Amino acid sequence: MAAAPEENIGSLKEQISRVFEESLRITVPDEAEVAPIIAPCARKEAGDYQCNNAMSLWSKIKGKEGVTFKGPQPVGKAIMENLPPTDMIESCSVAGPGFINVILSRQWIAQSIQRMLTYGIDTWAPRLPVKRAIVDFSSPNIAKEMHVGHLRSTIIGDTLARMLEYSNVEVLRRNHVGDWGTQFGMLIEFLFERFPDGKVNDQDIGELETFYKASKQRFDGDAEFKARAQQAVVSLQGGDERYRKAWAQICEISRNGYEKVYQRLGVRLEEKGESFYNPFIPQTLDLLRQKNLIEESEGAQVIFIEGKKIPLIVVKSDGGFNYASTDLAALWYRLNEEKAEWIIYVTDVGQREHFDMFFTAAKRAGWLPAEEGQYPRTSHVGFGLVLGDDGKRFRTRSTEVVKLVDLLDEAKIRCKAALVERGKAAEWTAEELEQTAEAVGYGAVKYADLKNNRLTNYTFNFDQMLNDKGNTAVYLLYAHARICSIIRKSGKDIEALKKEGQLVLEKDEERKLGLHLLQFAEVVEEACTNLLPNVLCEYLYELSEKFTSFYSVCQVVGSPEETSRLLLCEATAVVMRKCFHLLGITPVYKI
Ligand code: ARG
Repeated sequence: MAAAPEENIGSLKEQISRVFEESLRITVPDEAEVAPIIAPCARKEAGDYQCNNAMSLWSKIKGKEGVTFKGPQPVGKAIMENLPPTDMIESCSVAGPGFINVILSRQWIAQSIQRMLTYGIDTWAPRLPVKRAIVDFSSPNIAKEMHVGHLRSTIIGDTLARMLEYSNVEVLRRNHVGDWGTQFGMLIEFLFERFPDGKVNDQDIGELETFYKASKQRFDGDAEFKARAQQAVVSLQGGDERYRKAWAQICEISRNGYEKVYQRLGVRLEEKGESFYNPFIPQTLDLLRQKNLIEESEGAQVIFIEGKKIPLIVVKSDGGFNYASTDLAALWYRLNEEKAEWIIYVTDVGQREHFDMFFTAAKRAGWLPAEEGQYPRTSHVGFGLVLGDDGKRFRTRSTEVVKLVDLLDEAKIRCKAALVERGKAAEWTAEELEQTAEAVGYGAVKYADLKNNRLTNYTFNFDQMLNDKGNTAVYLLYAHARICSIIRKSGKDIEALKKEGQLVLEKDEERKLGLHLLQFAEVVEEACTNLLPNVLCEYLYELSEKFTSFYSVCQVVGSPEETSRLLLCEATAVVMRKCFHLLGITPVYKI
């Protein structure tokens, strides 16, 4: 695409803010610090956006020398009157104690959308105050099966990474796999026992989880084996060649399994497991010792955190390192070697305490600013449980954890069956059928997870997530495909229309849809800043509803307004596709 790199002029909110900023400078020249407070109108009848500065500004300036305002309302009125001339605003009014309601100009909204169509949706990317971020997500534990919790972490982490990437942040996508620790002693000894000649491959070990269980049984049931396993940990950590090799073999088998899941989900990750940070632990702990943060307690070395009864253990009483020491070393590495400004950790809420504690330790060490919201910064993105229909933790009948691949398989199979039932097997090529079933099936699993506030537990239910009505990926993907088919059926060349046609937002439903489109950037920004993918899902669902309202009152093909309305259809499709992309969902173009 040879589009001119049109400048990104910021979200709608930012653009409105800029106009008010100018007015504030004129209205209260002595209050240079005051930033515009702009929000969508609480009462939609009153306007599109409102400026909420008058009241707080009034309490700040009243009584000051030279201030002639008599209350917040005159302050609001002055801010309104001092607005610079702009074609963005159609009209303003002051309400209540000085709120300024803004009605945007239809023409300006239309032009902004048309500019996006010409220069691409990237010109709507949010602008964030961060250059490089790390998203630490997925992070399963070697030899143990990836479970539904890891699926949540993978899906949520990927979306956050995508949204940050779209916002021009360089993202290091880190898979902090549990590839180090005492369980390896047991696994390696068991491997030696089973395969004394050292020749082993994926098939031999089969399901690593079963292998893990068998070795655990041996570990728990045989004191002699247990002693050997403990010695094996020492040999491994001491760098013994034979043990390193066995460890690497086990990791490799696990890795191949994970990779299959990531490929299916279309998720890119770079593995830097716990073992990677192991060499950095001693120096990291030395730094903390120099700050007098580490104390002896019951034979262990710990960091006491204010308000917490149990301290953070950083060296166990047997001298070994643990999850916390690894995370401290990883944080040191990420801040100093990788120069990340924002480090985001995606795990279940059960781990919140662990993160709180080592974040606090890092603040006390002076690695992170004490104040919230300052950079460099760390955030724990916690999420709730996935429940089964019985309201208990989601498991299969055999009470084992549900395997990820099986879930994805089933979603796809069900989607395919639904498509076949609708006669698509006769209409489409086998490949089209396969691809659509996959896009819809995997998309449904992802969307069902992302649409909830991540902190709430949600019930995993295929029938619900695969419903083609309501707030589901199936409904949304079909809505997108329908828009594409309207454009196709018009027989018009949309690229030509973009160049020659003009977008006009005449009907109320057209204006509402247009305004919603224009709010895309600030929604992504909010989803990024608050690390809440559900905010984007809500936006997407509302977009499809606004489109439906528009389409039910506005004839598109064959109407006198056809060109303009086709452009509005196209803009809706473009924004929907970007939403899908950010949510890691593959769009479909026909149904
Ligand atoms: N492996 C851990 C688990 O499965 C998650 C790791 C999260 N990342 C981190 N830096 N601690 O629970």
